[in-house]
Amino acid sequence: MQYKKLCMVMVVMASAMKLSAQTTLTIQTDKPITEIQPTMWGIFFEDINYGADGGLYAELVKNRSFEFFQPMMGWKQINYDKFSSNSTSGDFQIITRGVEEANPRFARLFIKGDKGIGLSNEGFFGMGIKKDGSYTFSIWASQLEGSTSIRIELVDSKGNVIGQTRIVPSSSDWKKYTVEFKASATDAKANLNLWFEGKGTLDIDQVSLFPQDTWKKRPGGLRNDLVQLLADMKPGFVRFPGGCIVEGRELATRYQWKKTMGKVEDRTLIVNRWNTEFEHRPAPDYFQSFGLGFFEYFQLAEDIGAEPLPILSCGMACQFNTAELVPMNELDPYIQDALDLIEFANGDVTTKWGKFRADLGHPAPFKLKFIGVGNEQWGPQYIERYKVFSKAIKQKYPEVKIVSGTGPFPDGDLFDYATKELKELNAEIVDEHYYRNPDWFLKQATRYDNYDRSGPKIFAGEYAAQSKAIASPDNKNNWLCALSEAAFMTGLERNADVIHLASYAPLFAHAEGWQWTPDLIWFDNLNAYGTPNYYVQKLFSTNKGTHVLSVLAGTEKVTGKNGLYASSVWDKNTKEIIVKLVNASDKEQTTTLQFKGSKKLQSKGVVHVLKSDNLEGVNSFEQPKQVAPVEQPINGKGKNFTVKLPAYSFSVVKITVQ
Ligand code: AHR
Repeated sequence: MQYKKLCMVMVVMASAMKLSAQTTLTIQTDKPITEIQPTMWGIFFEDINYGADGGLYAELVKNRSFEFFQPMMGWKQINYDKFSSNSTSGDFQIITRGVEEANPRFARLFIKGDKGIGLSNEGFFGMGIKKDGSYTFSIWASQLEGSTSIRIELVDSKGNVIGQTRIVPSSSDWKKYTVEFKASATDAKANLNLWFEGKGTLDIDQVSLFPQDTWKKRPGGLRNDLVQLLADMKPGFVRFPGGCIVEGRELATRYQWKKTMGKVEDRTLIVNRWNTEFEHRPAPDYFQSFGLGFFEYFQLAEDIGAEPLPILSCGMACQFNTAELVPMNELDPYIQDALDLIEFANGDVTTKWGKFRADLGHPAPFKLKFIGVGNEQWGPQYIERYKVFSKAIKQKYPEVKIVSGTGPFPDGDLFDYATKELKELNAEIVDEHYYRNPDWFLKQATRYDNYDRSGPKIFAGEYAAQSKAIASPDNKNNWLCALSEAAFMTGLERNADVIHLASYAPLFAHAEGWQWTPDLIWFDNLNAYGTPNYYVQKLFSTNKGTHVLSVLAGTEKVTGKNGLYASSVWDKNTKEIIVKLVNASDKEQTTTLQFKGSKKLQSKGVVHVLKSDNLEGVNSFEQPKQVAPVEQPINGKGKNFTVKLPAYSFSVVKITVQ
């Protein structure tokens, strides 16, 4: 329905267009309107859709320390037949060793004969294994009695062994054993089999398998291909760890950064809030091991040249769920968490948390500039909590900018209330979220043209056009959505004096494990691809510029008349003038770009064209670049460059100044 309606809107635009097949746009090259913040285009990471465990965090073993609600979830005994006494040479138990332990459970194996006991781990929808890839297997073990060994086998989906090695535990004390081996074949759905052989009693915990080919080859690190897709965007910031995951469905499952650092075995696993969120997409095996924790987030941001932007709980659980509140007189630990985080990121190594950072191997500060108070909270309860957080943070760290929020919707009572209150409180940066249909995005290209310039700066913190309805499982990352986002983003860019940060959300989705769609990047156990929306984001963020230039059709801004949207920037570092043009109509348009001002332009430039003949066109594992930018040359005549804008296209014209 919505799609049909939008097509009608576009047809109307197109018929209007017949009157003006040729447009001239004037770009004033030497009178920049405003600066563009280096943070303008960033990324929003949340552990949703198996974005962390099973995704970015490259651990292949699911439930490695038996801490899921069902301790054997992800595991099965492979030579066990309850009807046959001959089927196995032993047994095992799951033992819980006391509440003071971060991850209290472990497995105790009673191995009674050479046939041994076999345990198999299924990974996250299988394990993605690559031919000739090197893998690191590790396990914590304690040989309580006798003498046993562990035969480690990788098996492909047909049951063929594609890699093996062995460990012989040598001590009755808990000890970590590590071994490396290679895989002989590629398989997206391999399993890990552990055969416990010999005679004795063996305790095991923290069973882990990592590829060595992680990002920057860090042991226990992140999936290389996924980080590369992020790095390619050259994002200005990384927002983490979410999203609703910050808040928790209840306070007990909110994100607590201090519990996500240090040795991985000391990071307490908790349930992921998306485990039970959607009945239509249940994810009973979705937990957070926090192997990807706050230190790794800071490190990731640093690696890809982005500002870290952590968002913290403000003592309010998700208001769509329990809406649990911390009483105002019990907020201190939450506020202290925020202050400690800033000390962790920026403090001298002589401070408690600065030393903690140095001990993790990063003595240099992370130079944190922003901190978020609450994710998507609303109502007076949020405002009163925001007040005490901001007072405490500003008192100690006046230089750190605080990000507050207007709640889940881009308009309506909750939005208006928060906007008014936050303005009165002189909030510095306010986070707005937009999950709306493509038509909304096209129309909202002018959203910020008349925004109050004396108010807070805006963080367009979560947005994505929804092809069907908000968070509908039928939403697609199709070209129509991406094109409408591009049109909207020209409006963000034209208003870069107000918009200081912007990020699409959510970022990642596992093809078999998603709860929420659309998402910017889709992956399975071996492959990943960027959606058309990804290429829109990438074209903006890699062509960010340093200053906004005026681009006019006559005396008017280019905000949708005849389906045309435009913005333009100057990049003082690369000496380029960049014009972004969206043709949302169903006809090709010819546009002459007239560059005015003293700057001398080279006569040749390039145009990056992103388009699809099909508004429902998508990328996929089979055709990952069905909708991807194509580069073409463009020649100018003096200061005029004529460019053909195909129907339903997004073009980025780049001209270098002599
Ligand atoms: O991006 C998915 C969810 O949408 C985020 O967790 C939340 O902030 C918003 O409601």
